[in-house]
Amino acid sequence: MVVKLKDGVYWVGVVDWALRKFHGHELSTHRGSTYNAYLIMDKKIVLVDSVWGPFANELMANIRELVDPAKIDIVVANHAETDHSGALPTVLRHAPNAEVIVSKQGAMSIPGHYHEDWKFRKVSTGDKVNIGNNDLVFVEAPMLHWPDSMFTYLTGHNILMSNDAFGHHYATGFRFNDEVDRDELYEEAFKYYVNILTPFSDRVIKKIDEVLALKLPVDMIAPSHGVIWREDPLQIVMKYKEWAAQQPEPRAVILYDTMWNGTRQMAEAIGEGLAEAGVDYKIFNLAVSDRNDVLVEVFKARTVLVGSSTINNGVLPTIMPVMTDIKGLKFKNKIGAAFGSYGWSGEAVKLIEEHLTASGIHIARDGIRFKWQPRPEELDACRGFGREIAEETKKPCTT
Ligand code: FEO
Repeated sequence: MVVKLKDGVYWVGVVDWALRKFHGHELSTHRGSTYNAYLIMDKKIVLVDSVWGPFANELMANIRELVDPAKIDIVVANHAETDHSGALPTVLRHAPNAEVIVSKQGAMSIPGHYHEDWKFRKVSTGDKVNIGNNDLVFVEAPMLHWPDSMFTYLTGHNILMSNDAFGHHYATGFRFNDEVDRDELYEEAFKYYVNILTPFSDRVIKKIDEVLALKLPVDMIAPSHGVIWREDPLQIVMKYKEWAAQQPEPRAVILYDTMWNGTRQMAEAIGEGLAEAGVDYKIFNLAVSDRNDVLVEVFKARTVLVGSSTINNGVLPTIMPVMTDIKGLKFKNKIGAAFGSYGWSGEAVKLIEEHLTASGIHIARDGIRFKWQPRPEELDACRGFGREIAEETKKPCTT
């Protein structure tokens, strides 16, 4: 299926309705995804990005609806990750004369993936390539999402093909933002930002300011996943600026795992204390929760409370995937604390505190731990702990 963006500019990508895990099994994609590729038919024929390898034949069929692939003059590879580059070997087998435009970093990462001696041309920010009536203008966007990432802007039609930036894993029957459910779209765009772009938030702000300063007219932002931002295209740019500022809400998330419900009871009593002091919260048992969805709630919340039973002198293993992400995603402006029940050695609380500190999360209060099953007065102490944490949560961010 081909969809027209403007005269001579077409979406030739693929909708992957069945995708439920991405990056191997790293990222949940409850609503599937799309791999967007764009074909520009000017005096030169240009393909911007490709699709994941298993869908190469669908991409080729889409291109053939418009043109003989052998006539492609230029392939722009904005980013080497295989969801966008995986079909390049197929494309270039059918378009043997095409030049492959890459960023400076892409000149290493694309050959690093495919070990092919294609006709590469390296470009830098501000470089222009004339394709007939219009130009392609390139903007390097390192770490949005890999060092090689690049935006391609098409003059005349004023389309910014931003690759991963401004994308979302959202399979839909329609290709434009004004045609789909806005709430679902933003849910997916936010989850994508949180799980993929959060550690690069400072770069996001700088890159957006740099691109806005160019004062390029933008009729559409066409990312490499999800729908094309046609209606009010800069709305997602402004949302990225807001998200990149990382100003969490005065609310809490309580993350825990439990062996015989002692730590669960503590989690719920802490939550009751938070609510008594007027602070909203969500509780997740990490053994049964989707890691990426949990991280969305962590992103939103000022306060992160983590609890675990102690096992083998450590924490329950289910705690660590989210703790590892909390560290790697480099969240800002958060406070935290630890809790847990234990039987004899009781190291979990201290280990969680160490991990929170190593993740840049300020410990708002010493952790709380109780032996065996918590007694009623110990659950009251958990409620008190929750109330104290609530007061810290309501204070303005200074960390
Ligand atoms: Fe959609 Fe970084 O790949």
